[in-house]
Amino acid sequence: MKLERPAVLIHLMTVLFLVSSFSSVFCAYADPVRQMDSQDSVIFQMKRQTDDTLPRQIHIAFGVDPTDITIMWATEKEDQSIVQFNPQNRPGSTVSVEGKSVVFENNTKGWKYLHRVALQGLIPGCLYFYNVGGDIQSQRSNFFSFRVPFKYEPHTYMVFGDLGTKSANLQFLVHESRARNYSAIFHVGDIAYDLGSDGGKVGDKFLNLIQLMSANTPYMTVPGDHDLFKDDEYRYRFSNPNADWPMQMEQLWYSINMGKTHFVCISTEVFFSDERNVERFMKWLQHDLTKANDNRSNFPWIVVMAHRPMYCSVDDTREDCRKPDSVVRQNLESVYSQFGVDVVFSGHNHMYERTWPTYQNKAVALNYINPMAPVHIIVGSLGNQYLTEYTSKPGGGWSAFTKSGMEIEIYGRLTVYNYTHLYWEARSAMDNSLVDRMLIIQRVHGPFTNTQVNIPDPLGEAGKAWRNRNGATEDDGSLINLNFFVVYDDYNTRVTVLCFTSIILLIGVCLRKKIINFLRFCCLKNDKCNNNIT
Ligand SMILES: *[C@@H]1O[C@H](CO)[C@@H](O)[C@H](O)[C@H]1NC(C)=O
Ligand SMILES: *[C@@H]1O[C@H](CO)[C@@H](O)[C@H](O)[C@H]1NC(C)=O
Ligand SMILES: *[C@@H]1O[C@H](CO)[C@@H](O)[C@H](O)[C@H]1NC(C)=O
Ligand SMILES: *[C@@H]1O[C@H](CO)[C@@H](O)[C@H](O)[C@H]1NC(C)=O
Repeated sequence: MKLERPAVLIHLMTVLFLVSSFSSVFCAYADPVRQMDSQDSVIFQMKRQTDDTLPRQIHIAFGVDPTDITIMWATEKEDQSIVQFNPQNRPGSTVSVEGKSVVFENNTKGWKYLHRVALQGLIPGCLYFYNVGGDIQSQRSNFFSFRVPFKYEPHTYMVFGDLGTKSANLQFLVHESRARNYSAIFHVGDIAYDLGSDGGKVGDKFLNLIQLMSANTPYMTVPGDHDLFKDDEYRYRFSNPNADWPMQMEQLWYSINMGKTHFVCISTEVFFSDERNVERFMKWLQHDLTKANDNRSNFPWIVVMAHRPMYCSVDDTREDCRKPDSVVRQNLESVYSQFGVDVVFSGHNHMYERTWPTYQNKAVALNYINPMAPVHIIVGSLGNQYLTEYTSKPGGGWSAFTKSGMEIEIYGRLTVYNYTHLYWEARSAMDNSLVDRMLIIQRVHGPFTNTQVNIPDPLGEAGKAWRNRNGATEDDGSLINLNFFVVYDDYNTRVTVLCFTSIILLIGVCLRKKIINFLRFCCLKNDKCNNNIT
């Protein structure tokens, strides 16, 4: 009877071995996004989760180019500003970059030490793991990761405005950003409600709440009216390409080229609370859009991100966007038209609205095929409080679709497929259901006022001739399949792990009897020894 016991144990061990082999094979097969998440959480668990003194409020954004990433965070006490990063999490290739820190005195009740590090010349499509902090390893943050956007389309961007600590579906957005591969997130103003409230504690709280989103995907902002109440909040907590840090009031706008899109991120607050900078801003805008139009063969789409809309269907006639002499419209509409801005996103009004291509209070078309005016979209329905503000009814003939802020909280996905196709989806931030969508097909990118457009139809014969003459490459969306390379590295590792465990498994199964006999033999011998002693 005594001899049976080791045999049972041996069988048990064999079963355990088989089960663990199977599970590692299964893990190796899991999809890369899951894998990344589980890596994150493993590292996360290794850290002391209860330690409130680790760097927090981590958020990243693009620098001058999508291959530059700036990383910002806050600490409770004075500390160095060091980012350690590692492409694809390869052992032994960690690089440290040191940046700058400032004391944010106006954060009287919050964390005062802000840090900013700029990483430059990163590789498009590459995944980078990083953490932040000072010299002492145990005091550094958890690991986060971001993927530098591909040079090629398609790109999908998450767009929303007016999000604060009281928005009921904030965590939904954080999960959504993790579940999909957004190239960037655009928050079109009104951040936290307000960054400076309660001595800065509200701003701190908000940046902690969104950290899983903003530390893993570039989080691009424009200032809203709420962000400039205490005028240094926004300037300290965020940074812009080409700007000093903390930013100056005349540096709150920027543009960035990504994929096939030229994004122009502006501050509509110059027209309301910062009028001394209007002229400077308008000069910059004209200059930027002129340059963008010179380069429309590379970046055909021009998309503006702004806080205040110029058209809206809200009930409150005191709103600027409702007025016949809207300040925003008077200042910007002719510029957008002159330079052929395709889409303008905004928030401010806590509702959702999509217009037809619209110019001077009129829809110029009731479709989105080769539109000859900008399309305006308001994505502000996340609002300050939950479903409390603004009912709305369709405004002028330019209004194509509205959804009141009393009904639903909405965010959007903007996908630029190629030279000709731009797709927009508005989705519920409560259950992700589709609320609205729009496909713009624009074959003739360029200024709207000029009927003699410079750039011919890229798909027609004239377009081909033009492209050849200008040495443009023929990659209008035809390179979408390059996405394949994203998983290349993960795939290699998975195949290796899979083969390795399968071989061990096979050996285990084939030599099962021999192993059992061998182990039994050992045990018997031990038993004998024991017997001899007694
Ligand atoms: C995100 O990207 C990864 C790697 O390219 C890919 O395997 C995965 O399917 C993508 N996930 C989604 C939801 O698109
Ligand atoms: C703090 O904010 C006030 C405005 O509320 C501003 O006048 C002051 O310059 C700020 N202090 C610092 C150090 O930036
Ligand atoms: C147009 O874009 C390309 C690619 O980014 C860049 O190399 C080039 O300098 C730009 N040209 C102009 C006129 O801005
Ligand atoms: C652009 O993308 C759309 C949507 O995926 C596709 O239907 C169209 O054929 C593409 N155009 C080109 C020129 O590749």
